[in-house]
Formats: sequence, C-alpha cells, structure tokens
Amino acid sequence: MSGRLIVSDHPIVEEKLAVLRDRRTTPVEFRSAMASASALLGYEVLKSVRTRKAFVHTPLERAKVVVPDQSITLVAVLRAGLGMLDGVLSLVPSARIGHIGLYRNEETLNPVRYYVRLPRDLKDSFVVVCDPMLATGGSAAEAIRIVKTDGARHVALLSLIASRAGVRRVHSVHPEVPIFTAGLDAKLNNKGYILPGLGDAGDRLFAT
Ligand code: PRP
Ligand code: URA
Repeated sequence: MSGRLIVSDHPIVEEKLAVLRDRRTTPVEFRSAMASASALLGYEVLKSVRTRKAFVHTPLERAKVVVPDQSITLVAVLRAGLGMLDGVLSLVPSARIGHIGLYRNEETLNPVRYYVRLPRDLKDSFVVVCDPMLATGGSAAEAIRIVKTDGARHVALLSLIASRAGVRRVHSVHPEVPIFTAGLDAKLNNKGYILPGLGDAGDRLFAT
C-alpha cells in the first residue's frame, strides 16, 4: 500500500523553497523562510483536523460554525524541526509541543535517539511531526514510531524537502501517514544528503 504524498505547488511556497535552497541565504533569512514555508504547508496539513459543528451568536443572530474537535500537537524533530514550530504555531497558537531528539550516525545513517519529551494523551490528538529534511527517511520513520508508541493514532509528517527514497521508507512502515512537503528531490549523495536539497538544515538554521 503506498501512502499519500502532497507536494505543494503554491508559488509562495516555491519562492520560500528557492530562498532555502540558495547557498547565499543568510541564517536570518533562512530562519524566516523556513518559518513562512512551514506556516503555508501547515495550513494544508491542518485541513485534516477533525472538526465539529457549533454555534456562535453574531451581533444579529445565531450562526452555525465549524471548530476543531481534537487537540493539535506539533512534534519537532531536533534540531532542525525547531525552525518549523513558530510558523505552524502562528496558525494554531494553542497547539501542544513535543520534542524528539535524533541525530544521524554519520556512518550507518541510522537515527540515534537522545531526547524524547511528548505531551500526554496523544491518542485523540492530531500529531504533526515536523522535520524539514526527509532524506533516507530513517529519522522521520523513527519519530513517527515514537509518537505512535506513545498512543498517537492520527499523525501527519510535515517536511520541506523530501527525497523519493525517504518517502518510500516512511510509507513502507507508516502507510497511513500523509507526507506534506514543499519539494521532492530525486537523489541522495553517498553521505545521505538530499540532492540538490539545501545542505544541512540544522547547520544553516543555527549557523553551526
Ligand atoms: C537531519 C534532519 C533530519 C534528518 C534527515 O538531522 O533534520 O532529522 O537529518 O535524515 P534522514 O531522513 O536520513 O534520517 P541531523 O541528524 O542532521 O540532526 P540535526 O537536525 O541536529 O542537525
Ligand atoms: N539532513 C539535512 O540537514 N540535509 C540533508 O540533505 C539530509 C539530512
């Protein structure tokens, strides 16, 4: 079963992606473009939040409205996922936040877990895992496994650049998880970096 992949073709998302890819972009510009692209993509991801009908009173009469019917939890995969939080939070300031610390072993490229702190009761929450780079897919697949092990049942992955191999890997283990991204790249180099990609997202974000 292959999963759902949504690659944005919105011109403003594409413009932000161009800034992120450009080697001349400064860390300040990079942070700002990451926040904007994350907000724009987050808007699409949040389309599948469960909703319910409700009523409010306008100054004139009662109006039928639609409101979210589940909490929203954003889970940043450290470090680079931190750069996505503010953008998505601008849409849903009351979202709960979780953190999963993973780094890739440089030789095996397997994710190594060093920190996990998640809000309680993920079972009924819409959990959006935020990781800008989906390269081999190991980190995202592991982050999704961790939130599911903690009870999450409604999960989406928000990335900024995905490789085809990364998408295949995540969907091979989590076929029900939709992947939203701004760009889909074809290749990885022998160090597991996405080509053309944008380089090392964490380093560019934090100027390390
Ligand atoms: C980067 C990125 C992803 C991961 C993607 O993190 O932020 O989490 O690599 O690669 P994968 O799909 O092959 O697992 P990195 O390990 O460089 O850590 P950092 O964010 O702390 O720099
Ligand atoms: N992590 C990054 O930051 N960039 C890549 O291209 C792959 C993994």
